[in-house]
Amino acid sequence: MAEPIRAILIDEDPAIRAVIRDALLTMGDVSIVTETDNLVYGYEMIRQHHPDLVFVDLRDDDAGNNRGLEIIRRIGVYFKDIMVVASGQALDMNTIMTCMQAGAREYLRRPFNSDEVINLYRRHRASLGQGNQGDKSGRIISVYSNKGGLGKTTIAVNTALAISQTTNQPVALVDLNLQLGDVSTFLDIQPRQTVSDIMRNLSRVDEAYLKTSLAHYQSSNNPNNPGVYVLADPVDVEESEDITPEDISTLLAMLKATFPYVVVDMDSSIDQRSITILDQSDLIVMVSMMNLPCIRNTQRMLELCKRLGYDSHKVKLVVNRYVPSDEITLDDVEDTLEYEVFWKFPNNYFAVIASVNRGIPLPQLENGKELFSSFITFTRNLLGISGPKNAPNKNLTQMVEHSNQASAANNGDAKAPSLWGVIGQTLGKVTSKSNS
Ligand SMILES: Nc1ncnc2c1ncn2[C@@H]1O[C@H](COP(=O)(O)OP(=O)(O)OP(=O)(O)O)[C@@H](O)[C@H]1O
Ligand SMILES: [Mg+2]
Repeated sequence: MAEPIRAILIDEDPAIRAVIRDALLTMGDVSIVTETDNLVYGYEMIRQHHPDLVFVDLRDDDAGNNRGLEIIRRIGVYFKDIMVVASGQALDMNTIMTCMQAGAREYLRRPFNSDEVINLYRRHRASLGQGNQGDKSGRIISVYSNKGGLGKTTIAVNTALAISQTTNQPVALVDLNLQLGDVSTFLDIQPRQTVSDIMRNLSRVDEAYLKTSLAHYQSSNNPNNPGVYVLADPVDVEESEDITPEDISTLLAMLKATFPYVVVDMDSSIDQRSITILDQSDLIVMVSMMNLPCIRNTQRMLELCKRLGYDSHKVKLVVNRYVPSDEITLDDVEDTLEYEVFWKFPNNYFAVIASVNRGIPLPQLENGKELFSSFITFTRNLLGISGPKNAPNKNLTQMVEHSNQASAANNGDAKAPSLWGVIGQTLGKVTSKSNS
């Protein structure tokens, strides 16, 4: 017989503990490790017994701090594979969102009855009790640039495909370019439900619902791979305007609870909706290109990220459509932005345009395989998956020598500023390098 699902109940109301306990015990496969009204003791029991399921009530202490929420946060950080059900008096979006962001998978409004507990348990039964098989709470990777047309969708789609290929896990690909999304075109799939459909059905949304309502892309070359689940942008532009930052936050929390990886394709705006996505992301792939307007925009965006408290572990700068050039080198870009370029995707116009126009992903196109291999190595580096070692960017020494040779060749006209100098001046970051 399968191992029982082990539950811990923390609730100050004995009557509510009895409702949860009795409901769970009727399921026949649950054992209650302990139940208590004491949060500190309850957390200690969680630490010692590492259960599969925990119920926690939200309650304020005398100073007005929500102690239940603190416990949920801790569980979310240290025991991500435990499913937490929070319960509280309120039923407002803010409370629910705060709980989900802290790591709760479900929220029950008090008082509740045994049927609600039983339904909730049945909804999650399949994902419970698989032991400590790693972090079940997914990672959100969003692809962003504050300038349009730099390759966000190309990178989001191929990164999602590369993650599913590399990890053999299902990946959600969400088109949050709410007005001009084109992820479904890239993969030539018919969206089943759009972001706004999901938003309308929030009360019914759970793992099974999400997996059946998202369009499923699976490569015919690799039918055993779980593939990519696509959530398309709203069909109607007006519908997209009704989607609030809170809606986006709820949607992402749900996707994160369902899929091990969630890749988000974004638009280029800097508004509350974008900031919400960036805030909730575990990793941000910041796309730029090797030209002055792009570098200027990227600089502004990196400064904003810094102000938002994101560090270099979270924000990965990537250069798209890279072509080696003496005019602007990667070193120049890094020096100017004072930021490491994490990856560069080569320029391969014919492969990308053939893929988009024919709706055939890069790995299935003969001339797309090389570019796609860059996505595979990028993904391994991004997720910290060990594999064949790859020099992330370039041979630094070689590049510096290269640019030095170029500037030596220019020395006949010492006053003519290099393009590097122009960028440095424009951005107010002229260094001695430009004059050397
Ligand atoms: N690595 C690449 N090599 C060559 N062409 C590329 C590459 N990446 C993207 N492109 C081309 O750049 C153009 C823009 O790409 P894409 O649609 O992915 O950008 P985007 O940032 O999503 O644009 P938008 O801001 O409009 O959503 C497309 O024509 C695409 O074919
Ligand atoms: Mg796009």
